[in-house]
Amino acid sequence: MTTQRIGIILNGVTGRMGTNQHLVRSLLAIQKQGGIVHGDTRLMPDIILTGRSADKLAALAAAHGVEKHTTDLDAALGDPAYSIFFDASGTPHRIPFLEKAIAAGKHVYCEKPTASLTADALGIALKAEAAGVKNGTVQDKLWLPGIRKFLAAKEQGFFGDLLSVRGEFGYWVFTGHVHDQPAQRPSWNYRGEDGGGIIIDMHCHWRYVIDNLFGEVTHVFTHAATHIPERIDERGQPYPCTADDSAYALFKTKTGVVCQFNSSWNVRVRRDDLLTMQVDGTLGSAIVGLRKCWTQHAAATPKPVWNPDIDQPLDFYAGWNEAPDTTAYDNAFKIQWELFLKHVAFDTPFPWTLREGAKGVQLAELSLQSHTEGRWIEVPILK
Ligand SMILES: NC(=O)c1ccc[n+]([C@@H]2O[C@H](COP(=O)([O-])OP(=O)(O)OC[C@H]3O[C@@H](n4cnc5c(N)ncnc54)[C@H](O)[C@@H]3O)[C@@H](O)[C@H]2O)c1
Repeated sequence: MTTQRIGIILNGVTGRMGTNQHLVRSLLAIQKQGGIVHGDTRLMPDIILTGRSADKLAALAAAHGVEKHTTDLDAALGDPAYSIFFDASGTPHRIPFLEKAIAAGKHVYCEKPTASLTADALGIALKAEAAGVKNGTVQDKLWLPGIRKFLAAKEQGFFGDLLSVRGEFGYWVFTGHVHDQPAQRPSWNYRGEDGGGIIIDMHCHWRYVIDNLFGEVTHVFTHAATHIPERIDERGQPYPCTADDSAYALFKTKTGVVCQFNSSWNVRVRRDDLLTMQVDGTLGSAIVGLRKCWTQHAAATPKPVWNPDIDQPLDFYAGWNEAPDTTAYDNAFKIQWELFLKHVAFDTPFPWTLREGAKGVQLAELSLQSHTEGRWIEVPILK
């Protein structure tokens, strides 16, 4: 077996996603497991961290035993030892970074959303394609255990004809006003001018989830709200919330499956997980969570009778089966990283491109348009 080194520039990596999901749980985990074995080759990531703060980079590198880091991104991009550029910095910075990396001839991979506007997201996809570099966007939810268990049941015809989907995403994000209840998400998420908003954040995900699981999205109707007008930032200062923090959306698909997704940072949770999708089909239904999936078959469906004058005699949680683990479920981001690295090194397929990412941005932009205009919007094919 020969070992092949693959050089990766990790940019904007001191943030939540960069550190936890991409550095620690993906690339360092891949190094720890001894790389990625493909045929008789072992692919081993070689990482350099880049960002604006030398101190933060040094601290992160020291904490995780990473040898190389620099604030000189241009020098890293000019170094032929690194063939891949990855960006997990804030959404408003993504396109300029990707443009630089593409101009330097790097293969590019990045967090979603790739941009705030469809024209920018499609534009960067076209630039990467024209330059002939390999490219990808994070679409992590596709590798969540709950979704994989749902897909396994679907593949076996468990649901019959799929009819509808009710997605509930969200939880209460503390505003920061109350002592000892600090906010658990970065403040930029609640400022439109900094790339925030739940629609640009979550509708990107719903696009690839719906397209891949239920049918290509053709129409959207969305009502958005900013329920909480003021939050407290990282410096303890109040700031006005200028982005949507809740979205109530309906999506029609090519297959006829109707999908309804509520997304909110202002809801208290009384359901099985922070994201659940109830999927109903003629022969069966599922509740799809992040890691678990519960199913109920037609033959096990109880017969409710409407009578509000008595306590409900049926236990609606009984009669659902939890799908067992039937394989190893690795971290979703790590799985996609392994696929991207193999794509770069061995030209294996990788359909989760910048062009696919642009479809998510398109759905978010059209959702906001639907809210503003108060009507259904058709989702055209991106060209
Ligand atoms: N795939 C997912 O499920 C998922 C979840 C959350 C966030 N995200 C996306 O990941 C990205 C980062 O989100 P986060 O929650 O980690 O935010 P964060 O605020 O924790 O991190 C952002 C990072 O970018 C850095 N940064 C900002 N401006 C920069 C610049 N000009 N140059 C270099 N670095 C810069 C910051 O210092 C920080 O390290 C966002 O685009 C967000 O939409 C994706």
